[in-house]
Amino acid sequence: MKKICIVGISGKLGQYMTEHALARGYEVVGVCRPQSVAKLSRFAGQIRIFPGRTDEREVIRAAVADCDAVLTVLVPWGVQGYATNTAQAVLDFAPAEARLVFSCGWHISRDGKDRYSWQLRLFVALFGRLARWLRLADLSDQEEACRRVFNSKKRWTVVRGSDLEEGESEGLPRWSGHVGDAVLASNLTRRTDFALFMVAAISNDELIHKAPAIVGCRSASALAAGI
Ligand SMILES: NC(=O)c1ccc[n+]([C@@H]2O[C@H](COP(=O)([O-])OP(=O)(O)OC[C@H]3O[C@@H](n4cnc5c(N)ncnc54)[C@H](OP(=O)(O)O)[C@@H]3O)[C@@H](O)[C@H]2O)c1
Repeated sequence: MKKICIVGISGKLGQYMTEHALARGYEVVGVCRPQSVAKLSRFAGQIRIFPGRTDEREVIRAAVADCDAVLTVLVPWGVQGYATNTAQAVLDFAPAEARLVFSCGWHISRDGKDRYSWQLRLFVALFGRLARWLRLADLSDQEEACRRVFNSKKRWTVVRGSDLEEGESEGLPRWSGHVGDAVLASNLTRRTDFALFMVAAISNDELIHKAPAIVGCRSASALAAGI
């Protein structure tokens, strides 16, 4: 049985990943802030929780030990490098052969070849400045976290989520290497399917050292692309 660690397990994405991982028969451990442990009560007896901030290196070291895969929810909360320090701890302490899968948004670009709509560029510019000014979040922190992952020799995948919506699963999202590719035009994915893609990536070696941008498989652009 595969043992996997979900870093940021108590959030919406983390809980969906837990459901998919348990459904596949994986042993699941997870890290979340102590005040969020109660959000996981429905999984009692099925998972092991390591309470702590995800940027606490000793918490991550203990949680990822002996894991075959680590799924990390990268979030740029605050202005203290939360995402960067979370990613670095996972890169430093996960076993050498573990599959590492990180989540982020379309705004992260690996090679600068993504083509963004003016709406997305405007949103990132405005939200980024406002969030930083309020000291709530720092988008450049998520960028730095991903830069470190991209430069790592470990077996990583960075999954770049489109806009998200709640709802029943539609199936495994479609993906493409660059935002701006026609298949991604609908820019919408069910959150549960984002989680499904993260979990499925564990056993898809084709995705190693890639940063797939995803879109719902039933979205208009995915159907039009016919793949
Ligand atoms: N939201 C979107 O539209 C969207 C779109 C594309 C990609 N994404 C990506 O999807 C992933 C999940 O994002 P999400 O928006 O759906 O949220 P989410 O799954 O609910 O996850 C939010 C995470 O942030 C943690 N968190 C919240 N406040 C915090 C704080 N003050 N300090 C430290 N941690 C805090 C939560 O932990 P607690 O449970 O402890 O609060 C949780 O682990 C992220 O990687 C994001 O970049 C999101």
